Amino acid sequence: MSENISRRNALKLFGVAAAAAIGSFAGITSCNKKEPEIKTDNLANQAPETNNPGKDIQANDSEQVNNEAAAKPEKSKRIVFYFTGTGNCMYVAKELSENIISIPQAMKLNQLEYEAEEIGFVYPVYGMMPPNMVRKFIQTAKLKANYFFAIATYGNKAGNAVNIWNDITKAAGYTFDYIATLLMVDNWLPVFDMDEQKKMDKNIPANLAKIKTSLEKREKYIEAVAEEDIERWNKRKEEKTGPFQADGIHALAEEWFTVTDACITCGACMRVCPRKNYTIPGEKAVPKGECELCLACIQNCPHKAIIITAGEKNPKARYRHEAITTRDIINSNNQN
Ligand SMILES: Cc1cc2nc3c(=O)[nH]c(=O)nc-3n(C[C@H](O)[C@H](O)[C@H](O)COP(=O)(O)O)c2cc1C
Ligand code: SF4
Ligand code: SF4
Repeated sequence: MSENISRRNALKLFGVAAAAAIGSFAGITSCNKKEPEIKTDNLANQAPETNNPGKDIQANDSEQVNNEAAAKPEKSKRIVFYFTGTGNCMYVAKELSENIISIPQAMKLNQLEYEAEEIGFVYPVYGMMPPNMVRKFIQTAKLKANYFFAIATYGNKAGNAVNIWNDITKAAGYTFDYIATLLMVDNWLPVFDMDEQKKMDKNIPANLAKIKTSLEKREKYIEAVAEEDIERWNKRKEEKTGPFQADGIHALAEEWFTVTDACITCGACMRVCPRKNYTIPGEKAVPKGECELCLACIQNCPHKAIIITAGEKNPKARYRHEAITTRDIINSNNQN
C-alpha cells in the first residue's frame, strides 16, 4: 500500500499543490535557534487525555500518509484545505481526501496557487465565522477547480455560518457548489466542559457518511439557515466590541491566556500555534500577538499549564480529536 517516494519526486508529480501538502505533512520546521527545542519525551509521556496516548508524537506518522498520497497521483483530483486547533477539521479533511493541505502551512510557505478537479475546505466555526487565516487564504489564493465545497465543523450552533462562508467566498470570486456544517465536539473552553463534550454522541460517523456520499455525487447543495440565525448575524454586524465581530476574530494572546507555574518549557505551545504567538524567554512560556482563538496552545499543553484568563468551564479538562496526535497539530500549524 505505502509505496515510498522521495520528496523531490513527489514535487515533480504534483507541482505546486504537492509542495504545500508536503509542507503540511512533513511539518517543515526550519528551527529558530534562539528558541528552545521541543521536549518530545515530556510530550509523549504527558500528553492531554486522548484515546490513543501511545500513538502521540510517533515520528513520521504523517510523512507516511504524505508518501501514500504522492504515490497515487489520481487522488490529487480532490484537494482539501483545512485549519484546525484540536483536530476535528483535520480528521474530517483526512476522511475526505488523501491530499490535504494545512492552510497555516500554505500561508507560511506563501504557496497560494492550486488547481484540481475538486477543491474543498474544512474549517471550524468561530462565532459563526471562519478563522481569520482561512478568510485571508480564500481572499488571497488563486484556486481553480470544477467543483468547490466547504464543510464547517461546529460544536453547538453553527448559526449563519453557511451564508457567511458563501458571502466571503463570493466576494473573493468563487462560487461554492456545496456548503454544509458538521456537528462535532465543541472545544470552546469558556462555555463547555471537555469531559462532558467527549461523552456526547453527536452522530458524527453517520453525518460524515452523508456528506461523503453527496460529495461523491458532486451534489449542488447550500445548507439552509434559520431566519433567527440570520437575524442574530445582522445584529452582530453592529457590534464593535468582543472577540467575534463581523469582520473577523479580534483577540490578543497575551490578554486571553495565562501560563501558570505548571509550565515545564516543553515548547509544544510554540509549535502548535499557527500565529507563532509563543516564546520561552525564561522559566515559562509567554503568549503575545494577534490570535486566531483556535485554542491549539491551551488544548495541547501536556501540563494544562495554560488557562483562559477570564475563566473556563473546567480548567482540568482538555480536548484533542482521538484520531489526531499532537504531532499532527504541530505539522499542521508550526510556523517556526
Ligand atoms: C473561538 C471559538 C469559537 C467557536 N464558536 C463556535 C460557534 O459559534 N458555534 C459552534 O457551534 N461552535 C463553536 N466553536 C466550536 C468549534 O467550531 C468546534 O469545536 C470545531 O469542530 C473545532 O474544530 P478543530 O478541532 O478542528 O479546531 C468555537 C470554538 C472556538 C475555539
Ligand atoms: S505552556 Fe505548556 S506547552 Fe507551553 S511550554 Fe509550558 S508546558 Fe509546554
Ligand atoms: S495563541 Fe493559542 S489560540 Fe491563539 S493562535 Fe496561537 S495557538 Fe491559537
